Parts: sequence; structure tokens; C-alpha cells
Amino acid sequence: MGKAVIAIHGGAGAINRAQMTPEQEQRYIAALSAVVEAGQAILAAGGSALDAVTEAVRLLEECPLFNAGKGAVFTHAGTHELDACVMDGYSLRAGAVAGVSRIENPVLAARLVMEHSPHVLLVGEGAHAFVAAQGMPLVDPTLFSTPERRDQLERAQAGDRVVLDHDAPLDPDRKFGTVGAVALDVEGNLAAATSTGGMTNKLPGRVGDTPLVGAGCYANNANVAVSCTGTGEVFMRTLAAYDIAALMEYGGMSLQEACAGVVMDKIPALGGSGGVIAIDREGNVALPFNSEGMYRGYGYVGDAPNIGIYQE
Ligand code: GLY
Repeated sequence: MGKAVIAIHGGAGAINRAQMTPEQEQRYIAALSAVVEAGQAILAAGGSALDAVTEAVRLLEECPLFNAGKGAVFTHAGTHELDACVMDGYSLRAGAVAGVSRIENPVLAARLVMEHSPHVLLVGEGAHAFVAAQGMPLVDPTLFSTPERRDQLERAQAGDRVVLDHDAPLDPDRKFGTVGAVALDVEGNLAAATSTGGMTNKLPGRVGDTPLVGAGCYANNANVAVSCTGTGEVFMRTLAAYDIAALMEYGGMSLQEACAGVVMDKIPALGGSGGVIAIDREGNVALPFNSEGMYRGYGYVGDAPNIGIYQE
């Protein structure tokens, strides 16, 4: 069994060094390091991979630097519709919510769906009613709004475009990022979680890959845990997260080969961009992306976090 480890992402896209001030860079590095360290602490204390990824994604949702929870992008109607998923590689149980606007931490709602309902995915008002019945307070949707995201919507609407959260020209404040985490714990269990506000100027009701098991999130103790970020429609059509697991299970590929095949070949072939974070049952880590950059980090228990933003 490999050493316990966690990996996280805060979105992939047109992120390049020339456009980033040292202060902005430092803010992202500090935020990503703190989240990796929080996950490492849970794993070091013998906590589960499921708890580590849930807490890592909750922290990323709380951070307005990233497009999930606070700082989520706006729909065409000027609203927020958030999606999240969590999956436990030990039991293959999963929970997800989609199109929610009144849940402060969608990843915690996804976990409630997994652990306290017979279902996998709840959407919209049904999800709100379910989590409220579970004792989770509902919040005002304006909680997620930031002036920068409002500006981003107005620029997208002026150009009549639907825009990935990580589109740099429309996002001078560089608030990029669907978020996610994958982990392996000391018991050898894998888990994955992903959370997003989706795409700026998306049609109300649009759901991407993030809350769909096998598309934006997947974990199976037999092989791998994966969390995706990027062009949701293409990750859905390629079943990207599950495809990595399948290439390993049925194709006998290594983690690196399977991730490269999906991220560098299959996603771009359909016009998609983005990346994945993945950890296999041995504790190997892969963080490939086909865009200019991806906010990312990982840390084995006992080691310092490794943080990256740009191509190496
Ligand atoms: N990958 C996130 C989304 O497209 O919604």
C-alpha cells in the first residue's frame, strides 16, 4: 500500500506567468498550500480519504479565489447554480447535487445525499428541501456573488459567449477554478470530490461534468480516484474520470498513461480543454492538463506540499 496522500486542484485554463503579479501568485500558492496541509493533517491523524477530500473541497469552496461556493460564476440570468459530487472508492457510494443556489457548501450537501438518502444525485429545489430536512441551513444566493464575477458576466453577455471559469481575457482578476480533491488514506481507501459554479453566462439549468459520477468525479479502490476541471460538456461526452479508471482496469495502463491518454488526446480531440488530478491505489499522483496552467497541489503525509500553477 502507498503512503497516504492528497491532491487538489483549483481549476485549469489560460493561466500564464506573464499575466500574474507576484502578489496574486502568492495568494494562490498560500491558499492551495493551506488546503493541502489541512488534508494531510486529516490523513496523518488516521482520517479517511473521504473526510480529507470533503474538507479540502469545503475549504476551496470557502475561498473566493476559486469558482465554487463563494466566488461562483453567474448564469445568463444573473443567478448562481452550483454543482458538486463526492465518491468513496471503498464502497463505490457516491452523492451529488446540481443546480443548487441556497447551499453554502455543495460538497457537504453531496456527502449528505450519499450518506442519508437512497439516491446519488439531487437537483435544484429538491436538493434544497432534502438538505434543509437534514438540518443544513439554507442561505441567500447572493452569498456567492462577487463584483468581479458580475463584471465577468457582463463582458460575456456583451460578447454573447458562454465562458469557462478560467478564461483569462474575460477574467482580469484571475478568479479561476472549479475545485476538486483526491486522496488515498492509510487504510488504502481512495476518494474524490469536485465542486463548481460551472460556466459564466451558461443557460439556467445547464449542468456540467462536475456532479456526474464518472464524468467529473470518480473513485474506486481497485484502481484510481479522479477529479476533473475544464470544458464540462467534453468531459461528460468522454466520461473522462471513469475512462481513466477503465483504461487502467481493462487496458492495463499505468496511472500516467491513462491520464495522458484522456487529457492530452481524447479531450482535445473533441475540442475540450482542462485537466485532472488523480491518485492510484499505490499512491502515485498525476496532475496533467492541456491548458496553459492549472492551480494544483499535492502532499504525502509527512512531506511539504508541492504546489504548481503553470506548465513546468
Ligand atoms: N467543468 C465544470 C463545468 O463545466 O461545469
